[in-house]
Amino acid sequence: MPDSLNPSAKSEGQSRKSDFPIFANNPRDLPLIYLDSGASTQKPQAVIDATSHFYAHDYANIHRGVYRLSQVATHAYEIGRETVARFIHSPSPDSIVFTRGATESFNLLADCLGRSGLIKAGDRIVLTEVEHHANIIPWQMLRDRLGLQLAVVPLMDSGALDLDEFERLLQPPTRLVSFTHISNVTGLVNPVARMVAAAAARGVMTVIDGCQAVAHRPVNVEQLGCDFYIFSGHKLYGPTGTGVLYGRGDLLGKLPPYQTGGDMITTVTFAETRFQPPPQRFEAGTPNIAGVVGLTAAIGYVESLGFDWIVAHEKQLLELGLKRLQTIDRVKIIPVSGDRSGAISFTLEGIHPHDIATVLDDHSNVAVRAGHHCAQPLMQRLGLAATIRASLGVYNDRDCIEALAMGLEQVNRIFK
Ligand SMILES: Cc1ncc(COP(=O)(O)O)c(C=O)c1O
Repeated sequence: MPDSLNPSAKSEGQSRKSDFPIFANNPRDLPLIYLDSGASTQKPQAVIDATSHFYAHDYANIHRGVYRLSQVATHAYEIGRETVARFIHSPSPDSIVFTRGATESFNLLADCLGRSGLIKAGDRIVLTEVEHHANIIPWQMLRDRLGLQLAVVPLMDSGALDLDEFERLLQPPTRLVSFTHISNVTGLVNPVARMVAAAAARGVMTVIDGCQAVAHRPVNVEQLGCDFYIFSGHKLYGPTGTGVLYGRGDLLGKLPPYQTGGDMITTVTFAETRFQPPPQRFEAGTPNIAGVVGLTAAIGYVESLGFDWIVAHEKQLLELGLKRLQTIDRVKIIPVSGDRSGAISFTLEGIHPHDIATVLDDHSNVAVRAGHHCAQPLMQRLGLAATIRASLGVYNDRDCIEALAMGLEQVNRIFK
């Protein structure tokens, strides 16, 4: 448990702001209201301490040295793999591949699947209309390279995916479906267990984009039964430059390497190279060792808070936020049917989202995201160029919601 964590302060409605030094180091007169955790979370002291302690005491390159320090660093890195495996209930740490982030995980997976023979010309890949570009473009590139078909599950006006169409699209020649656990724009929580079960029943491979899920709710890949699960460490209170690709062991074993170089081989001659089994096969060169140490601390931090508390805390704030935003003139909330997690997307009629975000920052020190959120197909479906997105972390509290609301009322006054 991080030193800075005081479980007695975990009572309802109270946030974990004091665990995050950025709030104490805020140079402005107004308190920092950070509502952009969907883009990246702030870092708790526990993560900063773990990373700097590693550099100050335990640092060396890994998997190579016979000397003590290298073994200490290797141990720390591999503990990171075991920690991630435990966190998402992977049956084995060997199913955890470290990458630079979710974007690299998607590129790795699409590229390697394309060269594995598991996906061939004429096969179909199914995505959904709410995907982040990171879960669209690598598949598009693969489509163009192999001659695949790409199909898209539409979003209904209610704000949920059309699951009938999803099931229809699982027919041959579909080989793989890749969909987000939680939308980074609307906060829509997809019924991933049901979607995976439907795909698995038809022998279709499943990839889940867990970027917006891992910090907000428990994930159990074994129970879900998905083939691949992807996320970034920096959205989970961990360092930038860390990402995870979970893959079912038998499938990972069928994939060729992605990048090549040091550490991912067993033997090299000028005639031929033999590769390590997964996960080392996919981790060429010196990895982000300190990043993985930080990610380990981030997971420890999240586990010390517990998802019971995180889910209840964020639910309370989301409900408050939805209620309060509805009292503000011109606000139009992007609807979500069913479960919502972590984010509210909205517009203010007649005011450009970039102007709104600028005024919120200038006048209220409120940080929100304005734009297409790397989900242009979804924006086209919504008939919008951009939205404002307020997204939550464990440091948010009721005051953050009120600051956002008062900031928006000020925007309305300025643009009346
Ligand atoms: C749903 C989703 N998928 C993928 C990504 C890409 O993550 P990264 O930029 O960390 O690689 C993001 C980041 O915003 C995201 O929200």
